[in-house]
Amino acid sequence: MTQMWDEILEQPAVLEKCQIVNEKVIKEIVAEATRRNIQSIIVAARGTSDHAGVFGKYVMEHELGIPVSLAAPSIYTIYQKKLKLTGSMMIGISQSGKAADVLEALKSARECGALTISITNDPNSPLAIEGMFHLYCNAGLEKSVAATKTFTAEMFLIARLVAEWNKNISLINELNQLSQTFFQGLDPGIIKTKVERYRFIQECFVLARGINYAIALESALKLQETSYVRAKAFATSDFYHGPLAMVEKDMPVIIYAPNGPTFCDVMQIIKRLKENLAELIVVSNVDDALKLGDCAFRIPQTSNDAISPFYNVIIAQVFACELALLKGFNPDCPRGLNKVTITL
Ligand code: AGP
Repeated sequence: MTQMWDEILEQPAVLEKCQIVNEKVIKEIVAEATRRNIQSIIVAARGTSDHAGVFGKYVMEHELGIPVSLAAPSIYTIYQKKLKLTGSMMIGISQSGKAADVLEALKSARECGALTISITNDPNSPLAIEGMFHLYCNAGLEKSVAATKTFTAEMFLIARLVAEWNKNISLINELNQLSQTFFQGLDPGIIKTKVERYRFIQECFVLARGINYAIALESALKLQETSYVRAKAFATSDFYHGPLAMVEKDMPVIIYAPNGPTFCDVMQIIKRLKENLAELIVVSNVDDALKLGDCAFRIPQTSNDAISPFYNVIIAQVFACELALLKGFNPDCPRGLNKVTITL
């Protein structure tokens, strides 16, 4: 098989390992953030790590009531601006720990008075060393260019930090149990058969609402880099404001529709796209949504909205990996890409 596939399968073990190794530092971060009375949070990251940051924005704002923004790294690197960051916290995320612009942003944030946290999969990397506190993915070396296990570790660490900060015991318990339920009901053989139908797609939309917007973004990126599909992600709310006009009969649209606060909203767009005769690929744990899909992937039930992204992203990763192989591509080595991409 491929490294991407092996790394997808490693994820339950990765979550267990990263939970154990970060317990102490998570408590230290919460103590320092509380002492400083943090009033705003900024996330700096690129690519897949940026999508973990989008997940982070939703889970932090929901749990902590603290506004979270995504950094524009060029403000720190190209424009060389200093921001007023007293009372702020910056989280820099990079699996390699080598993202140069994220490093610059974090350095600048520290100089400007922010509490700085780094999340990496390499404790000796420049970003890991720069952060005042470091959260370690502990995922083992990720060889495939398409990041999988580091993404779930990054999401897990942010959610775990937030749950500790908010003393949300039920979220802590659900996160701790994730490693046992991660692949519940997932049959790679069945997924492969379902993906066959999309062997020739060259473009698609990927939709979700709320916290799963992060998974729509990540799902689109996985399809772009492994299968060269022109996949574009939208929050369903944005999709109405123009992009909907592009949908034609048989246009593939992947929709993440888990139970929870966003479900009714996502159901509206599913029904609308059904009328447009789009080809619907529905990922959900609700029968009403699954039965409207031309193709459907069932995920486990969840009682907290921060949990479904973990199940949804497994489907996204497996779908992209299988599609690449069916198209005759090697998902581990996308054309023109390296594992580490340095931008300023
Ligand atoms: C992931 O599948 C991509 N290959 C890429 O977007 C990557 O996530 C990005 O370059 C960021 O890398 P980093 O986490 O090492 O900074």
